[in-house]
Amino acid sequence: MLRVSRLSAAYGAVQAVREVDLAVDQGSLVALIGSNGAGKTTTLHSIAGLHRPSGGTVTVGGRDITGWNCHKVVRAGVALVAEGRRIAPPLTVEENLDLAAYSGRSDKARLRARRDEVFELFPRLAERRQQLAALMSGGEQQMLAFGRALMTGPDVLLLDEPSMGLAPSVVDVMFETIARLHSSGATILLVEQNAELALAVSDHVYVMQRGQIVASGAPDEVRDRTEVMSALFG
Ligand SMILES: Nc1ncnc2c1ncn2[C@@H]1O[C@H](COP(=O)(O)OP(=O)(O)OP(=O)(O)O)[C@@H](O)[C@H]1O
Ligand SMILES: [Mg+2]
Repeated sequence: MLRVSRLSAAYGAVQAVREVDLAVDQGSLVALIGSNGAGKTTTLHSIAGLHRPSGGTVTVGGRDITGWNCHKVVRAGVALVAEGRRIAPPLTVEENLDLAAYSGRSDKARLRARRDEVFELFPRLAERRQQLAALMSGGEQQMLAFGRALMTGPDVLLLDEPSMGLAPSVVDVMFETIARLHSSGATILLVEQNAELALAVSDHVYVMQRGQIVASGAPDEVRDRTEVMSALFG
């Protein structure tokens, strides 16, 4: 349902993404892995409307959203949990969630239901619903950023390095939650530098190196491929 075809993106003379093809079927969890600077974040930003692609197309459910701005992309049903928690520190947990919903497609009745779903998924957020976001731990802020994306009622969830900078126990919570969302039918494109974590939860994996997809397949296939090792460590 998310299709990226021959997507290219640049920063001036730096060609960060070169003719990337990706497909994320409805209900599947697809991982995009690769080393530092491979172009993973740029790919997500080009899908989410935070960076204008220089070529190629992005479609969601058959609808061409190439080059749309981020607000329109959210309304088209695509939500990004960006690298490095995007939250509003002076607001409470609850206010952060409610505010996120207004950029989405929800009416008031669904807002409350969605908030309950987020609290069910992240009990820690429910316990701290009245707390200022600024006073939360890094892991809790990452959960809140995740919750904000879910508040928009996305058809496709884009996750950029949800494990980044988190304590191992919080990483476990994060990945258990991703697995739960997946089993409840969510459609997810997961960018992750920790290949083992990504391979453990995904249905399909793409490996990116210097702006291009250099390998793809089922997690077990990809794990055995030597290109993967060189892409990640070479
Ligand atoms: N705002 C920017 N201006 C110029 N170059 C950039 C910018 N953002 C990224 N780049 C360059 O584009 C390339 C791809 O970067 P990108 O952030 O997409 O990689 P990544 O795979 O997400 O890496 P990481 O694992 O470190 O997050 C890199 O060479 C990077 O230096
Ligand atoms: Mg990145």
